[in-house]
Amino acid sequence: MHAILSHLQTSPTAFHVPGHKMGRGLPGELGAWLSAAGRLDLTEIPGLDDLHAPEGAIRDAQRLAAEAFGAEETFFLINGSTAGNLAMVMTVCQPGDIILVPRNLHKSVIHGLVLAQARPVFYQPEVVAEFGIAGRVPAAEIARAVRENPQAKAVLITSPTYHGIASDLALIAGIVHEAGMLLLVDEAHGAHFAFHEQLPPTAMASGADMAVQSTHKLLGALTQASMLHVQGPRVDRVRLRKRLQLVQSTSPSYLLMASLDAARYQMETEGQARLEKALRAAADGRQQLLELPGLQVLPADDLLKWTIRVTGLGITGTDAYRILHEEHKMMLELSDPYNVLAVLSYADGERQVDRLVTALAKLAPSGHQLTVSAYTAPPKLRAVLPLHDAFDLPSVTVPLREAAGKVAAEMVIPYPPGIPLVLPGEEMTRDMLEYIEQLRSAGIRFSGAEDAALNTVQVIRQ
Ligand SMILES: Cc1ncc(COP(=O)(O)O)c(C=O)c1O
Repeated sequence: MHAILSHLQTSPTAFHVPGHKMGRGLPGELGAWLSAAGRLDLTEIPGLDDLHAPEGAIRDAQRLAAEAFGAEETFFLINGSTAGNLAMVMTVCQPGDIILVPRNLHKSVIHGLVLAQARPVFYQPEVVAEFGIAGRVPAAEIARAVRENPQAKAVLITSPTYHGIASDLALIAGIVHEAGMLLLVDEAHGAHFAFHEQLPPTAMASGADMAVQSTHKLLGALTQASMLHVQGPRVDRVRLRKRLQLVQSTSPSYLLMASLDAARYQMETEGQARLEKALRAAADGRQQLLELPGLQVLPADDLLKWTIRVTGLGITGTDAYRILHEEHKMMLELSDPYNVLAVLSYADGERQVDRLVTALAKLAPSGHQLTVSAYTAPPKLRAVLPLHDAFDLPSVTVPLREAAGKVAAEMVIPYPPGIPLVLPGEEMTRDMLEYIEQLRSAGIRFSGAEDAALNTVQVIRQ
């Protein structure tokens, strides 16, 4: 950040990209909003270093970040945790290598598996049936997966989940390392954990080898700005650097990188106090929510994540989300048939929490009993083709009801709980089609498939 400001103090006339020339030429309204910020949107000029071969300001900023986040080495990511997940998997896996991954893995991990041509073996997170969402991964489940797959290179785990549920990473790290494997953590939703003792321990503090964090999600960095943290002797750093070059732009945004540096500084100087304020307000607010009839709040490990089940009011989460927006001007993070999810952060306090609780208290019972079917575990599918082959092979579109016996060419991911039901290469069964039909009629949304309504699916052409 300082390097950019020092450069601006010299009042340079820019004869380099970007073409808007330090904000001067930014178009119309965008220019009006961004004119000052546009001055920071620079490129690799003397003094501003190079993300892909850092030896000055970016190297120093990454070192400061490593210290602040408890890592040995930190890499700035300008394409989100998505880039971090791709790079982690591609660093650890050669084609054909086995990696143990949770069934509730993020799409970017699946894409990492495809690019690395790795062979995923799935383990199962718990399901919090009352809220219909994925829960923590029991250490015993990791121990089982590791025992049954001794040739696996690594275990990748998502912790915390989107809903703020954290697994016991220290225990899991012990099991994974004992088996001679690496522990990779998709910690996209845990960038704030290092800065307050009431939050779960970070992946780095728990002994993970690599962890990726979306600094833009829960801290003050701009959207897409994320970090990859590394420690210990198990990660081949040369290979990692090469993979990062493969998945990241050669024109990294200085605005995004400056925002990572500024977010780090903000947390070091004010993080504890700001999180204290937010956590105190969140704890008080949760207490008030518990007293509201018809609402249930998930007891998450991250108290700043409020998953609120609203079906006791006779409305769905989707209804509540719409009402909160249209009638109370509250924009929540997401909704599903059961719940709404509100994300609080270090930037929130009593005022925001009070407004949200007041709005939630006004969600009047609809008067009719809502029947949302309870969560049931999906049938398991058999992989008949490697994931990366199935991703590549020509596909055809078939009506969903005719897909039994065919090999999926795409993912089918219901929200909630965000755990893929079908992955490319898996053989669709009649049981699975019936299961999908049930979810569809319960109003559950799907992602990953070409036809979001799921009237049709993509299968491998035979
Ligand atoms: C668990 C998880 N991992 C990774 C990502 C990707 O993060 P980003 O948006 O920073 O690329 C997300 C995004 O929502 C996520 O929920």
